[in-house]
Amino acid sequence: MTSVVTDSPFVRACRGLDVPHTPVWFMRQAGRSLPEYRKIREGIGMLDSCRRPDLVTEITLQPVRRHNVDAAILFSDIVVPIAAAGIDLDIVAGTGPVVASPIRTADDLRRLQPITSDDVGFVTEAVRLLVGELGATPLIGFAGAPFTLASYLIEGGPSRTYLKTKAMMYAAPELWNALLSRLADITLAFLRTQIDAGVSAVQLFDSWAGALSEADYREHVLPHSARVLQGLADAGVPRIHFGVGTAVLLRAMGEAGADVVGVDWRTPLDQATGIVGPDRSLQGNLDPAILFAGWDVVRREADRVLAQGRAAPGHVFNLGHGVMPETDPDVLTRLVAHVHEASGRA
Ligand code: CP3
Repeated sequence: MTSVVTDSPFVRACRGLDVPHTPVWFMRQAGRSLPEYRKIREGIGMLDSCRRPDLVTEITLQPVRRHNVDAAILFSDIVVPIAAAGIDLDIVAGTGPVVASPIRTADDLRRLQPITSDDVGFVTEAVRLLVGELGATPLIGFAGAPFTLASYLIEGGPSRTYLKTKAMMYAAPELWNALLSRLADITLAFLRTQIDAGVSAVQLFDSWAGALSEADYREHVLPHSARVLQGLADAGVPRIHFGVGTAVLLRAMGEAGADVVGVDWRTPLDQATGIVGPDRSLQGNLDPAILFAGWDVVRREADRVLAQGRAAPGHVFNLGHGVMPETDPDVLTRLVAHVHEASGRA
């Protein structure tokens, strides 16, 4: 089975190898855009559902069955390992992660403990079940990058300005580095657990890194993300590194140790590959809002993304960020079929 997955269009595109068609999957493909997801989640909290391997397996498989995507992504959340590390938090519907007592001092940092695979045994179990069910379809594991995780821990929840996060970064570099380095250890352990259990690729989500200048990213964030990505260099699976609003960070995010750089919709892929360089594949980057503009626009814009993606050594088609809950799932199904057909070898 392993060799079939290694030879899948998704893994081959990540490695810059030739493919029978451009592979496609969607960030947040499992979730509220699917009625079958809303039904199965009824009355079960987000974190509780992430800890139930039977539910994780079913929810992860839902978009694979429905859309015929080229990869599954494990149903979980970036804060799952943080909760396992001892932080009291919840995922509030419509808001996101909320931390009961934010981390702002060296004393607070003691509440964030290292994790081992045993602390997330439910993830190992879910990945094993999924690998058995998925056959030739690769499973993507993921984690939040140290900066994005730190932003939730320091702010206490979602933020527009990252004021407290940046204040700590500039004013208390020792505490900042201690926090990000502990988060890097947790992230590394969480990704290792998923790889050991059988995922075929990993994606490191630094969703909010776009709040930083390149200089600040390189000084305060990149070393920690690089320790995660380079710590997996021997693992033998492609590493995808993604953030939103990262036009000025794309080169640095590749240098951190990614095989594939995820690009949002603001930077055309032909431009992005010039920034990232010839050694790395790209993933992206249709604006998730385009899915609301009618099929003719979706098709035209998807063709543009495919054409621009040909400039890169490998291209994994995706949205520029996650599927919005209001998205018509039939448009996603049609988009997958179109990407396969339009990019397929004659
Ligand atoms: O299908 C997939 O992509 C896999 C599942 C997945 C979830 N979260 C499930 C989820 C993944 C990869 C994530 C990652 C994640 N979580 C990120 C990075 C990706 C990104 O979007 O940039 C971030 C920043 C989070 C934190 C988080 N968790 C947010 C911002 C939210 C949304 C809040 C909301 O309700 O709008 C969550 C909750 C969450 N994570 C949901 C899902 C399906 C919605 C919860 C629900 O269904 O009730």
